[in-house]
This record gives sequence, C-alpha cells and structure tokens, in this order.
Amino acid sequence: MSKTIIVTGSTDGIGKLTALSFAEKEHTVYVHGRNKAKVDAVISEIKTKTNNQNMHGLVADFSDLEAVSKLAEQIKVDIPKIDILINNAGIFKTKEVQNKNGLDIRMVVNYLAPYVLTNAILENIKQSEAPRIINLSSAAQAPVSEAVLIGKEQDSENSTYAQSKLALTMWSFNLAKQEPSINVIAVNPGSLLNTKMANEAYGQHWSPAEKGVNIIYDLATSDAYKNDSGKYFDNDKGDSKGYFAPAHPDAYADSKIEILLNITNRLLED
Ligand SMILES: NC(=O)c1ccc[n+]([C@@H]2O[C@H](COP(=O)([O-])OP(=O)(O)OC[C@H]3O[C@@H](n4cnc5c(N)ncnc54)[C@H](OP(=O)(O)O)[C@@H]3O)[C@@H](O)[C@H]2O)c1
Repeated sequence: MSKTIIVTGSTDGIGKLTALSFAEKEHTVYVHGRNKAKVDAVISEIKTKTNNQNMHGLVADFSDLEAVSKLAEQIKVDIPKIDILINNAGIFKTKEVQNKNGLDIRMVVNYLAPYVLTNAILENIKQSEAPRIINLSSAAQAPVSEAVLIGKEQDSENSTYAQSKLALTMWSFNLAKQEPSINVIAVNPGSLLNTKMANEAYGQHWSPAEKGVNIIYDLATSDAYKNDSGKYFDNDKGDSKGYFAPAHPDAYADSKIEILLNITNRLLED
C-alpha cells in the first residue's frame, strides 16, 4: 500500500537515496532541504528516474527554529496523514558555528529541529494506521552538556556532534514511551558512509551510502521491525547488516532524559 513519507535532509547523501528508494516503490515522498532550487532539482531527478509523480518539496533551514516551526504549520495543513517520518537532516562540519540565536548549529539541526518538527506534527503522524519515525543517530554519542546545548559554551565539532546525536537518541527513546501508537526507532546507519558529511569530516569513507539507505528503508517499512519501538539499531555491528544494540548508557537513564527534556523545553520557550 502506498504510504506518505517525509525524509528531512533529502537533497544529498543518505536522505536523497532514501527518498529515491521510497519513490521507486511508488510511495508519496516529501523531499526536504534548506535550498528550494536543490529540492526542486532532486524532485525532478527522482521523477525522471522512477516515473513516480507523487513527489513534493518542503523547504526550511533547520538551523533556524522559527523556520522549522513555520514548516511544521504548513505540514499540519498540507499533509493530514503522515505514515513515515525520517529525521535524517544533519550537519557535522559548518563554517558558521552558531545560529542567529547563539546556539551551536549542530545542536540545532541534529537535535532541536527534529524535536520541534516532530512534536508539532505528531497528530498528523498519529492519523496513520501504523506510523513510524526513524531518527538518524550515530556511533558518535557523548554525554550532553547543558552549557553546550544552550549555547553558553562551545566544544569541539566532534564532541558537539556526538552530544547532539546522544540528545536525539535520548529523546527518541522517550518519544517511544510517550507515544506507544508510533514505532520510533533510532539508528546508526553505519560509520563513514560515502556522503558529503563523512568525506568532509574525515576525508575518507568506509562503506557505500546504500548500506545506511537499506537499513533505514527496512526499519521504516518491514514487518520484522514492527515491535521494535524505543530501540537503537547499530549498523556498525554484524557483517553486512547490523542489529539492535545498546546505545550510550545515558539513553537509558530516566533522570538524565528528564533533565535533557526540561532544558530543551525551557530553551525552546525563550
Ligand atoms: N555518513 C555517515 O557516515 C553517517 C554516519 C552516522 C550518521 N549519519 C547521519 O545520517 C544523516 C545523513 O547524513 P549524510 O551522511 O547523508 O550527510 P550529507 O550528505 O551531508 O546530507 C545531509 C543532508 O542534511 C541537509 N542539511 C544540512 N544542514 C541543513 C540545514 N541547516 N537545514 C536543512 N537541511 C540541512 C543537507 O542539505 P544540503 O544538501 O543543502 O547540504 C543534506 O540534504 C545525518 O543525520 C548524519 O548525522 C551519517
């Protein structure tokens, strides 16, 4: 059955190939990016490749939380039922470290933006018979510093990226508990996959991007994963394909998750 799917950050890398995979199976796919011309170009490329005309665009710079909220308002009206949300947009290296509100762009794009977007459109996601949310985590996970999260202190790009990914994973586990009707899975798609992010950050890659695309597609659609809400899939484990494995211990510490979400909500109220 055809599903309605949003893939954030699908103008490049894993997200773009994931949007293509969904389009090949005749689903309705929303391509999201920060640059309208790039979104339009990806849509026409995928339409040409797949002949799927049910392709649409969403534009918002995720380093700007007002833009994310505006996009969410548009989605609430335009897409009444969302079957699958892939929170994929992410950034590691960035020329501008802080956004206009003084927050680290990695924290904003990788954690705060998906948090704001997802929470704002939850009712539309819950209209689906079997909704799924896939959150793109990473092998890089480090304890979240309040000072870094709220923009009071800066840390290295490695550390801030890892903090943003653990924050996303902690929230992912909490969301699974809070919304039992939604299947919420966090995934490390595999380390150093062949994308702009990995090549810019490390000057090399270990595996093709398709390794990550295949597991995201399966986690989002396969019956095999329908009872795995609240888990973390680690695609660095195993031989060709990973398995569910423990995330960073902080993702299982209820008191730390509560603190993280309190700080997050306070920050977003300001
Ligand atoms: N590659 C890996 O080895 C690896 C490993 C673990 C986890 N991941 C995660 O997988 C996800 C996809 O990464 P990737 O490797 O495919 O990276 P990528 O090729 O750099 O693609 C990132 C996507 O996010 C978008 N994006 C970046 N900043 C944005 C912003 N401010 N607003 C809106 N969209 C923005 C990019 O848009 P533009 O096209 O405009 O740049 C692009 O579409 C990320 O969450 C990443 O952390 C990747």
